[in-house]
Amino acid sequence: MTALLEVEDLRVAYGKIEAVKGISFKVDAGEVVTLIGTNGAGKTTTLRTLSGLLKPTHGKITFDGKPLNGTPAHKIVALGLAHSPEGRHIFPRLTIEENLQLGAFLRKDKAGIDKDIQRAYDLFPILGERRKQAAGTLSGGEQQMLAMGRALMSQPKLLMLDEPSMGLSPIMMQKIMATIAELKSQGTTILLVEQNAQAALSLADQGHVMEVGRIVLSGTGEDLLHDESVRKAYLGED
Ligand SMILES: Nc1ncnc2c1ncn2[C@@H]1O[C@H](COP(=O)(O)OP(=O)(O)OP(=O)(O)O)[C@@H](O)[C@H]1O
Ligand SMILES: [Mg+2]
Repeated sequence: MTALLEVEDLRVAYGKIEAVKGISFKVDAGEVVTLIGTNGAGKTTTLRTLSGLLKPTHGKITFDGKPLNGTPAHKIVALGLAHSPEGRHIFPRLTIEENLQLGAFLRKDKAGIDKDIQRAYDLFPILGERRKQAAGTLSGGEQQMLAMGRALMSQPKLLMLDEPSMGLSPIMMQKIMATIAELKSQGTTILLVEQNAQAALSLADQGHVMEVGRIVLSGTGEDLLHDESVRKAYLGED
């Protein structure tokens, strides 16, 4: 089987500082793959590069059989790669529904868009209840739901989520993780960046541990969850 996403020896720098130092991994269709690691490991830089927001200095990215290097961000969305960014970046003055519509900015199939907005409301009922309200009135967890719903509006083949549980209460975090599990069970392919290693590894098929720009350990979610060095460094055990 060919991978949906294949990243080979990717390097990304900010000026002279190399933030991603030659990483390789792949994501097969239907899988959840997670990148975990401490602050500054290069996780967000990796996702922003896959989205076309940053240019790699080296390496090869292949998505759905096509090389992505140099492809502009909006074309990458059109190819089926959606990104729910770190910090969410919803539009606070626009309504929830308008935020969702913006996620479909490349689509022209009005009926299909309406159907997918309804799907977002089925996934996150609170968004439907408050569809006409300004998105800035939502709580942090609800804004995360909106960011995920918006990313899904482009009907992605691969959904990238950057720290969806950041800053959320334990209950809200569980709700977000349960939704990711639900999306997975519906067949959505997901690349998940998380600092909450326990939650991410519990639902991931594959995981990679990043440290200062490199992948230092890879395995199934299950293997990494039981790996002694991961437990010490990321799961707060000694
Ligand atoms: N715009 C930028 N200009 C210069 N350096 C940057 C920029 N963005 C990130 N960096 C640096 O690149 C490195 C990787 O950062 P990145 O945001 O990718 O890490 P991360 O793994 O997502 O961390 P976190 O868990 O804190 O979100 C860090 O050393 C960071 O300081
Ligand atoms: Mg980050």
